[in-house]
Amino acid sequence: MQIDVQATAPLRVSTPCLVIPIWQDTKLSGPAANLDKKLNRLISGVIAEDGYKGTVGETRVLYTQDTIPAPRVILMGIGKQAKMSTTKLRHAVAKAARGVRAIKRESFALAVPAVAGIEPEQAAIAVTEGILLGLHVFNDFKTDEDSKGQTKITGATLLVEDVAAARRGVAYGQLTATANIRARGWVNLPSNLKSPKFLAEQAQEICARNGLECDMWDETRIQAERMGALYAVGMGSDNPPRFIIMEYAPPGMEKEPPIILVGKGMSYDTGGYSLKPTTSMEDMKDDMAGAAVVLGAMSAIAELKPKRRVIGLVPSAENMVSGNAQRPGDIVTARNGKTIEVVNTDAEGRLILADALSYACELKPAAIIDFATLTGAIGVAIGQEAAGLFATDEALADKIEQAAEITGDRVWRFPLWDEYKEHVKGSISDLKNVGQERRAGAIAGAVFLENFVADDIPWAHIDMAAVALIREDRPLSARGATGYGVRLTLELLKNW
Ligand code: BES
Ligand code: MN
Ligand code: ZN
Repeated sequence: MQIDVQATAPLRVSTPCLVIPIWQDTKLSGPAANLDKKLNRLISGVIAEDGYKGTVGETRVLYTQDTIPAPRVILMGIGKQAKMSTTKLRHAVAKAARGVRAIKRESFALAVPAVAGIEPEQAAIAVTEGILLGLHVFNDFKTDEDSKGQTKITGATLLVEDVAAARRGVAYGQLTATANIRARGWVNLPSNLKSPKFLAEQAQEICARNGLECDMWDETRIQAERMGALYAVGMGSDNPPRFIIMEYAPPGMEKEPPIILVGKGMSYDTGGYSLKPTTSMEDMKDDMAGAAVVLGAMSAIAELKPKRRVIGLVPSAENMVSGNAQRPGDIVTARNGKTIEVVNTDAEGRLILADALSYACELKPAAIIDFATLTGAIGVAIGQEAAGLFATDEALADKIEQAAEITGDRVWRFPLWDEYKEHVKGSISDLKNVGQERRAGAIAGAVFLENFVADDIPWAHIDMAAVALIREDRPLSARGATGYGVRLTLELLKNW
């Protein structure tokens, strides 16, 4: 979709649909005030009598009866001035863009509000992301155009004061939104069409296209490399496991300590012999959403050009039942030599990550961040409003919290107190892969992973199990995969 930038006054723009911002509880100003006069105080009337308030995401369509070049206007509520943020702006714009689609227009112009405390470039990023992410729908598998039921919007024009700043913002917003949407695509893909091999091929393609180094280990190599936990999780499937390594290094930085991103890449999770009940299994194609964050971020990295070496690692397997599948009670040895009793074959994410984190530490990284749809318990704790953040390093946690605030890919931090470590101590092995029944499940997953990270390496774990896929539309994402974590990661890398 084409997004242009112009400095034209909104009421002079010739467009099928003009979107203008309306503050809540504030006297009409700017284009809204001028249009109100031309329309004999129609907007004032809509606010005074028709219950329109201008709350974030509240839209209303008006017809302008030849008073301005644009035949229709969408009022875009942006909430109260004191509470404005880029996240709210993104949500408001996403709703307005869906409003344009609802009235079947193929292009629109949007007056970008000037907001105190938000730089014009930041505003343009938020608006661009709002448009692209708000309009994205996954209907690749609908076969007749009608049932898709969506008008395709092909162009938007942002009306701004600072054209140069807005152009920069649009370019960056397009980069992040495109990477996010790529991640949504992989997560939305059903598991009969994606396997560990498929993810590895996607990684190879991304690396080839962007000049990144790429390596891919098959099941034989995985076993030879002593990744006993990843190997065991993958044993039960006819789609064998893969370990994917992607690397970006700016010129002259090939030997610098890298930032390592690790993504859980279960192409499907039935639970294995600790089989999931039917309704818990339905969404398990999303169990590679952490891998999608890594692939999505690496797909944008050549254009982002961060000044750091970055390595993306994806342990990938399919958790199935068969004559070769691992059994509850099996003991496996991870790459760092620790033994794990597989008490529950459904706690497989921490097993494949154990080997990936052990390998990551061998590369002497500056920091490791892993993204994983690790536990149902994280959703019980905080629902779908944030992912869980677990970190061993304050500076790294701060960085992630700041990037989360800016991007709206929210995180909420949980403790890694020593007492929790007891929960995953093994009785006949070093570790067991489950904690205490119904207690601190997300933290148990995190402290388990901590056993595979060297003490002196800053590490953060992001449990995104509850936010990777949604059943109902949310402001920035239609039902389905959200692409959570991609924009967060790009924001982190941009200024690291
Ligand atoms: N992939 C699941 C976690 C999950 C749950 C992802 C809901 C997305 C939505 C993970 O492998 C899992 O099954 N975790 C278990 C751990 C338990 C057995 C200790 C869980 O959360 O029940
Ligand atoms: Mn599982
Ligand atoms: Zn899983």
